[in-house]
Amino acid sequence: MNKPISPSQHTPPLTQIGRPPPPSFEQAKNRRQKVRAAGLDPNYWYPVEYSKRVKPGQVMEVVFWRRSVALFRGQDGVLRAVENRCAHRQLKLSIGRVEDCQLVCPYHGWTYDGGGKLCKVPHELFGKPLPNITLRHYPVRERYGLVWIFFGEAARADSVAMPEIPELEGPKPWAKLLVDFTWKAHHSMIIDNVSDFTHAYLHRKFKPFTDSTLTDLRVEGDNVHVAYDTQVAAGPLMRHFVDRSRTNVNAMKLCYQYPYQWSDTDGKIKDWCFCLPIDEQTTRAFFLFYFDGFKIPFLPLKMPRQVMEPVLGIAKEAVFKPLLEEDGVACEAEQVGYNEHWNAPIAELNPAVHEFQALTIRKWESYLASAPAGDLRSFG
Ligand code: FES
Ligand SMILES: [Fe+2]
Repeated sequence: MNKPISPSQHTPPLTQIGRPPPPSFEQAKNRRQKVRAAGLDPNYWYPVEYSKRVKPGQVMEVVFWRRSVALFRGQDGVLRAVENRCAHRQLKLSIGRVEDCQLVCPYHGWTYDGGGKLCKVPHELFGKPLPNITLRHYPVRERYGLVWIFFGEAARADSVAMPEIPELEGPKPWAKLLVDFTWKAHHSMIIDNVSDFTHAYLHRKFKPFTDSTLTDLRVEGDNVHVAYDTQVAAGPLMRHFVDRSRTNVNAMKLCYQYPYQWSDTDGKIKDWCFCLPIDEQTTRAFFLFYFDGFKIPFLPLKMPRQVMEPVLGIAKEAVFKPLLEEDGVACEAEQVGYNEHWNAPIAELNPAVHEFQALTIRKWESYLASAPAGDLRSFG
């Protein structure tokens, strides 16, 4: 009889053609198998949700590499994040409620503060003292409209930089556009996608980049820099909004700045992609685009700043979401293909992709070598 597969292991079932599932990081035999099983180092700040979606008195579950966290905002407006597990009988605290600035389990009402400390048991204690229990808690910040959590060692949080985006700070911030997706694909497939312009074919309708030639590939520490000669924003809609007299749209710089990714067109059009790895086949990707300015279509005039946000709202629905959904469809299909054919020969032409993957593997190996026992591991 076949051994039943425990759902808690989340092990993918045998593939449709009866092959075993892809190997774990430890079992992996080559670079592609390794990168598709690698996690992301939790000792960075990861975005988990839009700030405005977590209102005072609300609690929600967020997941990083299968680690479940209860994120809640107290009535004082401050966000807190604790291990999503009541110490009593292991219910998820995210199905509980927020009272003032504490989180209450829905079953027997055990109550935890933002530091994860059990501070109240509202029923008989049978002559015993209040149990001395502290759940793990996580540093939380809010920036650029997003909630960020540091899932690694809390003591390191203050010394690890968040992405710095000076263009969105100060009295005259650039106009920005945020969009996110949850794709059934490993995070490394998304990183491979966003900085590898060989997939222009996928976007032949929107043409965000065309006729690309790789002109630079440099690995500097935990950054992989790439540059392309390309035609940026040549699509039917966006080309009318980009001021080609002020912006060099013939080249783009990109970087896999572990664990984030960014691009820059002539210092005028920029974006970041932040991946939240949920498990080895699920990733939530937040894309943050920001623009120095637009021109008014068909006129040589700069668009007034106050008009840019509503225009970006329309562009988000008309261009950015459908364009990125093309990437999502491709990445999810790649995951399906990988699950079936993880042992197929590697046929990758772009040297940049090799470097992205090597960096992800190297960082995960060094995390595993230093991680406390029982901390995040790869699955398998
Ligand atoms: S299970 Fe949470 S209070 Fe009992
Ligand atoms: Fe793409």
